[in-house]
Amino acid sequence: MDLTYRPRRLRRTPALRSMVRENSVFANDFIYPLFVHEGLGIEPISAMPGVNRWTLDTLVGEVERAWNLGVRSIVLFPKVADELKTEDGSECFNEKGLIPRAIARLKEEIPQMTIMTDVALDPYSSDGHDGIVNDDGIILNDETIQSLCKQAVMQANAGADLIGPSDMMDGRVGAIREALDEEGFQDVGIISYTAKYSSAYYGPFREALDSAPRETTSKIIPSNKNTYQMDPANSREAITEAQLDEQEGADILMVKPGLAYLDIIYKLREESDLPIAAYNVSGEFSMVKAAAQKGWIDEKAVVLETLLSFKRAGADLILTYHACDAAKWLNE
Ligand code: PBG
Repeated sequence: MDLTYRPRRLRRTPALRSMVRENSVFANDFIYPLFVHEGLGIEPISAMPGVNRWTLDTLVGEVERAWNLGVRSIVLFPKVADELKTEDGSECFNEKGLIPRAIARLKEEIPQMTIMTDVALDPYSSDGHDGIVNDDGIILNDETIQSLCKQAVMQANAGADLIGPSDMMDGRVGAIREALDEEGFQDVGIISYTAKYSSAYYGPFREALDSAPRETTSKIIPSNKNTYQMDPANSREAITEAQLDEQEGADILMVKPGLAYLDIIYKLREESDLPIAAYNVSGEFSMVKAAAQKGWIDEKAVVLETLLSFKRAGADLILTYHACDAAKWLNE
């Protein structure tokens, strides 16, 4: 055939392919999510094979392992004891709580590691919602923000580098920025869960923290988060959220879940010059693990291809439970 263009020319050898490769993934692109609990031992999470709830002591070892593999950032989530959960979730700003103790300990032992925290009430709320629920089952926006600001300042005071509001209350990024600045934490950044969808992919995470919305006898608790998290059908709305977060002072914008929302990552990349993060969430992780355990897919190849897809879509960083495995594979 008389072809002028033969794209296969540049695919002929590994050297040629690597020369024209447009995207790559590195261990320092990752933020590694870790669950911590007050208990005595390491507790495996059944819906997330290979993921555990760590004690404060064992957490240090896991973070050191991540650091040695080249991971430079983690995010902490607490499994809070039932006795500490209340309707207002006020344990979230307890200075002696699990999260501030974990941050302080990690900053002592591995000071260079970037520590991101989660800001929302759900791990601390007996109702299992990210905000305060009133007697009519409405999740209160402005009242919740007061608690979120206290939570953020407490975390910054404990040594957090990046505050991650995952609650989806309106106006929380601006309020948290102001609260941090007032307390002298101008250098603590905000990585906002900008486009956080009301997704079924969070199922395994809610098992890990036992944080799903719960029924009580005293009031009606909505069984889903549809009145504050975004409708999976919407994409223009993600741009509105991104514009608001930028105006309010977010340093990094996040899309969550990641894999089923690559189009949203791409859109925000076009819309904003801020760094974009993708959250490769628990359900996405568990699906890969389950198929791999059955021998139906090649885990290493699928994970690396998935992580690359976030970068290709326009993400600069990726929150992923695969962080340590992927870092290891990338170093091979
Ligand atoms: C809570 C929060 C959730 C996740 C991160 N922070 C769950 C939710 O909104 O119900 C999900 C993470 C995952 O599924 O990996 N505000």
